[in-house]
Amino acid sequence: MAAVGFGVVGVGTWGERHAATYAYRPEVELTLVCDLNEQRAREIAVQYGAQGWTTDYREVVEREDIQAVSVVTPDFAHREIAVAAAQAGKHVLCEKPLATTLEDCEAIIEAARQAGVKLMVDFHNRFNPPFLKMKRALEEGELGEPLMFYVRLNDTIFVPTQMLSWGGQSTVGWFLGSHAFDLIRWLSGAEVRRVYAVSRSVVLKQRGLDTPDFFQTTLELTNGATAQVENCWVVAETAPVVFDFKCELVATKGTMYADPSHHRMVQKYTPEEATYPDVIVFPEVYGKPTGFAIESINHFVDCVLHDREPLITGEDGLQATKIVLAMEESARTGQPVEVG
Ligand SMILES: NC(=O)c1ccc[n+]([C@@H]2O[C@H](COP(=O)([O-])OP(=O)(O)OC[C@H]3O[C@@H](n4cnc5c(N)ncnc54)[C@H](O)[C@@H]3O)[C@@H](O)[C@H]2O)c1
Repeated sequence: MAAVGFGVVGVGTWGERHAATYAYRPEVELTLVCDLNEQRAREIAVQYGAQGWTTDYREVVEREDIQAVSVVTPDFAHREIAVAAAQAGKHVLCEKPLATTLEDCEAIIEAARQAGVKLMVDFHNRFNPPFLKMKRALEEGELGEPLMFYVRLNDTIFVPTQMLSWGGQSTVGWFLGSHAFDLIRWLSGAEVRRVYAVSRSVVLKQRGLDTPDFFQTTLELTNGATAQVENCWVVAETAPVVFDFKCELVATKGTMYADPSHHRMVQKYTPEEATYPDVIVFPEVYGKPTGFAIESINHFVDCVLHDREPLITGEDGLQATKIVLAMEESARTGQPVEVG
């Protein structure tokens, strides 16, 4: 079988992971990578053996030998590329959040529906082994019914101030909250009905970024369960891992705790720093990209190759966006917000 052509638009920090995953799969041809930063596009194309590079996403969507496109541009810059790719008949893997407005989400979903192409949103925690254990325990009835969740997903201040050049144009709600909300929807099997949130803007504002430091959010779910969610972008840079992820579930029969960021499976101490190197997100095994973040991208590849429906849909992306919008509105108004 001839290799199936894939393209990646946006090859910054995370787009590189998409390119690396496609490059490793023998059934896939990494045909074209695209970035507004030409030097970055060229570097990634050379490093991962892409056929070529471009700075214009239209070249990617117009290529007849490309069947699928990853959209890995900043949070607010997914719609135009995802819609154009779907309208050109390409399957689309869109990074989370699907988009930052309901109109943008709906336009992407509608373009994919009309073109009959697959649309997946990369909420890769549905492939994260600790959370799969929780999901399995719930499905098998070991825990009973969910009562309350606690989810903490925070980043050190390195992320909005140094890693992202566009931190001030997004929020920790879009960047991390969308993951947390999708995780809760998926684990609980329920929708979010009402949101209460508070946020503060102190530290990032002093650094010249017009974006909140954190949100603390309470969710009420349609099955009666509740969730407390914490998303913060100003954790001290000396933390041993750039992100801090906890998920706790108290259910009617059982309780489960997951700590996939500070699990201390590997601890490294050098004269400069103490760190817990990654062993589950995207570790390499003799050059092969592995880890749950890669499994998510591989799932999209498998869906394209074998004509299967992705486990994570555009509708999942839309629901997460609705919750982030409700969270931001609640934090702004001081009132609870119903999620439509
Ligand atoms: N699944 C995850 O856990 C995860 C992790 C990190 C980032 N992300 C998501 O991936 C997306 C990208 O994040 P990142 O951290 O890689 O950001 P980044 O800034 O490192 O990379 C984005 C790249 O997109 C390029 N770009 C912007 N507009 C473009 C356009 N119109 N055409 C072509 N290239 C364009 C930029 O030049 C940049 O290189 C975001 O939506 C982010 O939330 C997801």
